[in-house]
Amino acid sequence: MCGIIAAASTRNVGKLLVQGLHKMEYRGYDSAGIALHQNDSIAHLRALGKVQLLEDKMVAEKPKSKLGIAHTRWATHGEPSEINAHPHQSKNNVYIVHNGIIENYIELRESLIKDGYEFLSQTDSELIAHLLDLYLKQSNNMIDAMYLAKAKLEGAYAIAAIDINDNESLVVARNKSPLLLGLGTDEILAASDPLAIGQLTNEFIFLEDGDVAEISAEAYTIFDANKKQVTREITKIDISSQATSKGEYKHYMEKEIYEQPQAILNTIDGRIGGDDVLDNIFGLGSAELFAQVERIQIVACGTSLHAGRVAANWFSSISELPCQVDYASEYRYRNPHVDKNSLLITISQSGETADTLAALRYAKEKDYLGSVGICNVPTSSLARESDFVLFTNAGPEIGVASTKAFTTQLAGLMLLALSLAKSRELNPILRKRVVTALRTLPEVIHETLKLKDQILAIAPAIASKDNALFLGRGVFYPIAKEGALKLKEISYIHAEAYPAGELKHGPLALIDENMPVIALAPESEIAEKLVSNLEEVKARGGTLYVFADPSVTMDVNNGAVISMPKCDFLLTPIIYTIPLQLLSYEVALLRGTDIDQPRNLAKSVTVE
Ligand code: M6R
Repeated sequence: MCGIIAAASTRNVGKLLVQGLHKMEYRGYDSAGIALHQNDSIAHLRALGKVQLLEDKMVAEKPKSKLGIAHTRWATHGEPSEINAHPHQSKNNVYIVHNGIIENYIELRESLIKDGYEFLSQTDSELIAHLLDLYLKQSNNMIDAMYLAKAKLEGAYAIAAIDINDNESLVVARNKSPLLLGLGTDEILAASDPLAIGQLTNEFIFLEDGDVAEISAEAYTIFDANKKQVTREITKIDISSQATSKGEYKHYMEKEIYEQPQAILNTIDGRIGGDDVLDNIFGLGSAELFAQVERIQIVACGTSLHAGRVAANWFSSISELPCQVDYASEYRYRNPHVDKNSLLITISQSGETADTLAALRYAKEKDYLGSVGICNVPTSSLARESDFVLFTNAGPEIGVASTKAFTTQLAGLMLLALSLAKSRELNPILRKRVVTALRTLPEVIHETLKLKDQILAIAPAIASKDNALFLGRGVFYPIAKEGALKLKEISYIHAEAYPAGELKHGPLALIDENMPVIALAPESEIAEKLVSNLEEVKARGGTLYVFADPSVTMDVNNGAVISMPKCDFLLTPIIYTIPLQLLSYEVALLRGTDIDQPRNLAKSVTVE
């Protein structure tokens, strides 16, 4: 999704701004642009498509500047085009970049047109430049103009703005969209994503909603929502030391799939000891709070929601708690009834997903015992706004398709199920069994990754089709959904998932030789029933690709049965995810899609 970077420095900033845009490419975008202050003019360059095209323009024009703003755009209002790309400007006086959505843009646009402003783009963002220009005329300084503009703006935004009459400082503002400052040597930076400026500094200030900040090469000043000057904490993080290169791999997604044994180890490390989960791993006081829990509500989106659906089974079987799972985008709109002693759980890789954050903020007004976040980004809004949090420690996930984030979320959610059971003094023998199995999990994942050759053998048959059906039962149904999501998002093959028992209630009509069926058949009490469901597919000419426990035998038309490594049943959903990730990756590779940045998608979805 959109990315902002801004810099005020004693050196030329063009190159570092473009490098910052490259670092944010993983988020997904359709165009890029830059505005560089050149004392009496602004160099304004934009390009539809990759950041490299913008960089080519920069190389051709070689603009020099010590103050600038830059942006990658992911279209919300208006098609992807150069004219809709940021920065937007007003009368060559004010240039802005914006992340988020201005909800009252129609009304503001009309009023600005009446004030004589001409709109060149179809975006909601352009009006911010005009508003700032209007208010600069009244106030003569950008901080005051920003507060006047903020009073008019409804919605979510992170903004960076430069004024033609000020070649030393720029102004940024944050409301419900991430924005941070970076304190460099002889330069101060602002960005929506720490990765954009992580090579330039280890010192970050995470702005809060309502904040406005002015930055120059030597100084910064932050004001809060009430325009009171404030001091915000400086957080030290060494982002440059976190592995963000592809190394020997073709794609980040491939690298992240193979990182899973280590990532899972990092999730459980220091959180289990002896035969049990350790106390208070979700934060001080969490063990006491968990003892009071009588009901669980999970909210999340996409892959994180699938992790929640798997975990709901564990909360039931291990923690003996009822659990409801909602799409974060739907939760607020169903007028949810909150039972006494309910715990809210949010799950998010990025911790910046707008729908999940909005659900958390909404839930805070309700009568929950407290909120627990399962999150991969310690500096995220979700981490800061949750009462308790468990970081999945997966390391940066750059590929848009979530892989290691998902399996580490599952490991984190298993730790939560165990912690709840422990606080409620339930199932000590089962807890011991799961803790023992968790210790072997990285090794079992390592074994599972060796299935690559067998997956390579079936990938061409799936890559040549336009549709695919994924089947699973019980806790494997959300895993089947995750498999279908992976396949559709990176290979653009239409894929759906069903609980296998539902086949005969409709989807069986789709089965023919052009509909590959990918099924998950672990050893379970319903394995036989699942095999019967798969026979129904076979009898109708469907080709089956079954990931199965070695004990499950069946004949498949021209498809394949791939035997899975053994592990404790409760952890098998994690193991069965791995071949589905590998399969979608290999299929996408054959289809030649943009695997790390699939079309139309963004890594971190910061608009509702
Ligand atoms: O950062 P989050 O976990 O909150 O993101 C939620 C979804 O946008 C994300 O899982 C999305 O579905 C992935 N692209 C799936 O691979």
